[in-house]
Amino acid sequence: MTLTIDVEPLSPVLGAKIRGIDLSKPVDKATQKMLYQAFVDHSVLCFPDQELAAADQLRFANFFGRGDGGERVKRRDKNKRRTGERGMMFVSNVRENGKLIGVLPDGEMMFHSDGAHRDSPYRATTLYGIKIPSRGGNTLFANLYAAYDALSQAMKDRVENLVTRIVYDYEAVNRADTIAADPVLPRAHHRLVKVHPDSGRKTLYLSRLMTQDIVDLPADEGEEILLELFDHCEKPEFVYAHEWKVDDLLVWDNRCTNHARTDFPSDEQRMLRRYTVSEPDAPVEA
Ligand code: OGA
Ligand code: MN
Repeated sequence: MTLTIDVEPLSPVLGAKIRGIDLSKPVDKATQKMLYQAFVDHSVLCFPDQELAAADQLRFANFFGRGDGGERVKRRDKNKRRTGERGMMFVSNVRENGKLIGVLPDGEMMFHSDGAHRDSPYRATTLYGIKIPSRGGNTLFANLYAAYDALSQAMKDRVENLVTRIVYDYEAVNRADTIAADPVLPRAHHRLVKVHPDSGRKTLYLSRLMTQDIVDLPADEGEEILLELFDHCEKPEFVYAHEWKVDDLLVWDNRCTNHARTDFPSDEQRMLRRYTVSEPDAPVEA
């Protein structure tokens, strides 16, 4: 069965399209391992034409780490910061009885990596297309290995040991809207250059949506580096634009890619089912 699976690059930048597997059925361990290797090799996998119930998607998420199957309840921790169980949600602008059924409803989103505001970010995210607008709403993926590799040696040396402060405001459209001093917002520190644990390759880790500043650098010096790197990581040569079709299942690696979303008509429905994948040792909350 493993031999009939077809892996084809999605673009020269990153990604692979995988056919010849029905993910509504259990998948043997050898095939799961093969899919994990394809995920490490290509960073984004697309499985077109999958008809999946939520439980099928969660089973798939578990091939890549610990699928977050909890119920997503928002809570506040003892410092009044927002926390919550990691779990399924809809990314959608659909409203039922005037209430949104999901999160991240409308329009364009800046580049980011899911869970970067946590000490243990999501290893991966799975997203399954249920309703797709007639135009726009593409998910853009940036290859942060390639972005790192393309830096000058001087820039690589300059950023090698830097640590960033990441703050996530669920309501902000970009980092400038984030009130970083607000103690309620979740936050974490991460290295600007990380080594991917599976590939051993170096990758940049920062984003226009969430990276606030560089720890231990004067504000203006840090800001100059960040602005240069944001622009660099978003260059078209590092970006693949995924045009969604209904029944596409995607999984992406948050450790070496950023993603963003293009605008789409507000009077059309968009709905995707999302399960994140945590590191197996990550706490369920926070
Ligand atoms: C997400 C996300 C982008 C999109 O689910 O984390 O950023 O295209 N989604 O909806
Ligand atoms: Mn996201």
